Formats: sequence, C-alpha cells, structure tokens
Amino acid sequence: MSKDTLTITDNRTGKTYEVDIANGTIKAMDLRKIKVSEEDFGLMTYDPAFQNTASTSSKITFIDGDKGILEYRGYPIEQVAEKASFLEVVWLLQNGELPNAKQLEGFRNQVTMHTMVHENMREFIDGFRYDAHPMGILLSTVGALSTFYPEAKNVGDATNRRIQMTRLVAKIPTLAAYAYRHRRGLPIVYPDNDLSYAGNFLNMMFKMTEPKYRPNPAVEKALDVLFTLHADHEQNCSTSTMRVVGSSKADPYSALAAAAAALYGPLHGGANEEVIYMLRKIGSKERIPDFIKSVKAGEGKLMGFGHRVYKNYDPRAKVIKRLADEVFDAIGKNPLIDIAIELEKIALEDEYFVKRKLYPNVDFYSGLIYEAMGIPLDMMTVLFAIGRTPGWLAQWEELLNDPEQKIARPRQVYLGPSRREFVSIDKR
Ligand code: SDX
Repeated sequence: MSKDTLTITDNRTGKTYEVDIANGTIKAMDLRKIKVSEEDFGLMTYDPAFQNTASTSSKITFIDGDKGILEYRGYPIEQVAEKASFLEVVWLLQNGELPNAKQLEGFRNQVTMHTMVHENMREFIDGFRYDAHPMGILLSTVGALSTFYPEAKNVGDATNRRIQMTRLVAKIPTLAAYAYRHRRGLPIVYPDNDLSYAGNFLNMMFKMTEPKYRPNPAVEKALDVLFTLHADHEQNCSTSTMRVVGSSKADPYSALAAAAAALYGPLHGGANEEVIYMLRKIGSKERIPDFIKSVKAGEGKLMGFGHRVYKNYDPRAKVIKRLADEVFDAIGKNPLIDIAIELEKIALEDEYFVKRKLYPNVDFYSGLIYEAMGIPLDMMTVLFAIGRTPGWLAQWEELLNDPEQKIARPRQVYLGPSRREFVSIDKR
C-alpha cells in the first residue's frame, strides 16, 4: 500500500531516511536529520529566487499556471471581474466570503470616510522635485503614513489591524492622485464622497475647474475591473516582500511601502509601463519581425510576456483584452493596440516563445487601456499598486494569524574565503 512519504538514501553514508509528503511538499526542516556526522548541520534546500519553494500555506488565491486558472477565495477571476465591484473583492479577499448587501454598504461607507490624508502630506509631497516618479512618491508617502498612526504597530490586535487596512485601501488612491497632481503642477483635488471608489480616483486625478467631476461611466467601470484584476496573485515578488517585512511585526504602512518598492521593478509591476515604451519603440506592424529577432538574439525582453507561474495565457490578460475593446469603443482607440495584437499573434506562433511557454501576462494590455484613459505612463505601476493593496493586506494578515509562521530568515550557502588573519595596511 503506497504511503505519503519519500524515502531518501544518502549515498555518502548508505543511510536511508523517510520524510512525510503533504500537499505535494516535503518539509525542508525534515532534511536536517540527513547528516554525515553528529556535528554536521544537516541538509538544507538550495533554491535561488524560491523557484520551487512554498514559503507559506494560504487560503486566499489559487493559481494553476499550466491551465491559466486564477481564483480569489475559490471564485474564478473571470466571474469576479464581470460580476463583483472592486470593494466587494476587497471584502472577499480580506474576509474569505463575498459580502451581503448590508456588509458591502457598511464597508463602502467606511472606506469613503477614510479617503482623506493629513494635510501635512501635502507639504511632504511638495518637497519632491517636479519630475519625481509617482511610484517614488507613493512608496515614500505610504511609509510616512505610519508616523500618523503609531498605534498601527499593534499588529496583534485584530480590530486595530482592520482599521489600518481600511485606511490603506481608502488612502492609497488619494496619495496616488496627489502624486499625479504634483507631477503636473496642479492643485490637489479632495475626495468626493458621492462618487464610487474608481470614480473618486478619477475625480482626484482629473477634476479641473468644473464644480463637480462626472466620471465617464465606461472608464469608471473599466478602472474598477482593472483594480479587481490586480487585487491579488498569491506569493508574487511584492506580496512575498509584504510577508517578509510583516513577519518582523512591522506596521502595515511600512510593510506596504516595501511591497510597493518591490512592485516598482520593471520585471514585476513596472512592466505595464515598459510595454508601452516597447510598443512605441516598435512603432509599426512592419517593424515587428525585426523586434522579435532582437529579442531572440537576447537584446531585450518582450515586455508583458512570460510569467514565473503561468505557462499558459494569463487569464487576466484575456479579460483585459476584452475590456480594451469596450474602453476604446467608449473613448477612442489606442493606436498601439494594433501593434500589440500583431505582436502577440507573431510571438505565439514563434518557436522561441512557444518553447519557453511565454504568453501575454496581466501587463501586456493593461497599459494600453490606462493610456487611452489619459493615465500617463509613469502612473501605470501606481494603478497596479492601488489594485494590489487589498491583496497585500489580506496576505499580511493571514501571515500574522498563521501559527506556522515566524520571522523570515533564509539560510545561505557560504562560498567565500575561509578564516584568515587580518593583514595590517603596511603589509598589503
Ligand atoms: C507580474 O509573480 C506574479 O504573480 C507577478 C504578477 C502579479 O500579478 O503579481 O503576475 C505581475 O509581475 C507579471 C510579469 C510582468 N513582467 C514582465 O512582463 C517582464 C517580462 N517578463 C520576464 O522578465 C519574465 O517572464 C518574468 C520575470 C515575468 C518571469 O521570469 P522567470 O520565471 O524568472 O523566467 P526566466 O527569466 O527564467 O525565463 C525563462 C526563459 C529565459 O530564456 P533562456 O535563458 O531559458 O533561454 O524565458 C526567457 C528567458 O530569457 N524569457 C523571455 C521573457 N520572459 C522570459 N524572453 C523574452 N521576453 C520575455 N518577456
């Protein structure tokens, strides 16, 4: 009768060991009993970039990379994107169930009542250069928020945690819009409590001298869906960062600033901005073959393609591609879409990309919609951060409530010089 165990023979000693298999994994700590002598530390796993290491168990988001499946608390992303509002998704991620009408109304009111930030934040933002990248402003200001809510350090108190989580979901769009207005030399726009979450963000971004900002319904809806599509994605680079910083019991504002910093990288959340630069550089369909050739020659990456987990089409990219058609119908087409569609077609037929299972990811089409909405390139990763904030927070709280977790502190394989005596400067 088969057993859920792994039998390991250490050929250095001839000894055999049996380790349990659970959820498709073995515990790395079980390898420590494999030694060549009593004083031996025991075996570790070596896994740069954690390509084959589960750092946690989680009940929040499920991804099947081979099948291109993404589910939030068991609900398929395609259904959630079509049928739920972003704030419904925030509640789902953080509470495990979809809210009923009363819960959603109460949560919406709570978020609405927390959208303003301390006036000192305006002076803080005014201290940035006129051309400061909005992501640099966002990760700085969200970290600075920790100084306004010192009680947030009390991460062991569930009620306190939820207040801070609601504040962050509510205030991130405000900080993001302030960063944009600073960049454009425009006066900041205060939140409008009459508007939806996405509508209010558009208001704080684009309101000029009109008495009341009225968001374009198609744009407001598309933005709400885009926030949902970015809301969580299990243990990606920025979420893992949120968890590592959270594991030291840092407050959620500081942990989220670190997560935003990780997202800023061009290989992660910065890719949506890079895709637009890439499409602009290609410039026309006729120049796609030469560009593809340069990528295959190792001269650069096809930004918006490839994924550590998805070895199939990113399901979010499919939804975004459909959303693009709706937005372009409403507010005009982004001419770069034709190059993007042709580029995708050629790449998906090219052996180089097929062999490496490189498909469009969430960033390939999202920037095209943002640009059509009037969102400048350097704000695109900021919008990714707004969407991902509830996921970062849900994963952070799950970490704090997980009895298996403790401060994250990986090991290393040391390959440096062995012990040697110090050499005085006159002898070097
Ligand atoms: C996000 O983890 C998440 O869930 C992230 C995310 C989320 O929601 O949080 O989904 C959001 O970050 C999406 C990814 C956005 N980044 C990009 O679009 C940047 C371009 N993509 C690549 O840099 C890359 O695909 C990564 C970083 C996304 C994944 O890299 P991996 O898993 O480390 O894969 P790899 O770099 O080892 O690539 C394997 C092979 C290599 O070729 P060989 O050395 O084997 O010959 O595929 C090649 C790579 O050179 N490759 C690409 C490529 N991506 C991988 N070649 C050309 N263009 C690309 N985009």
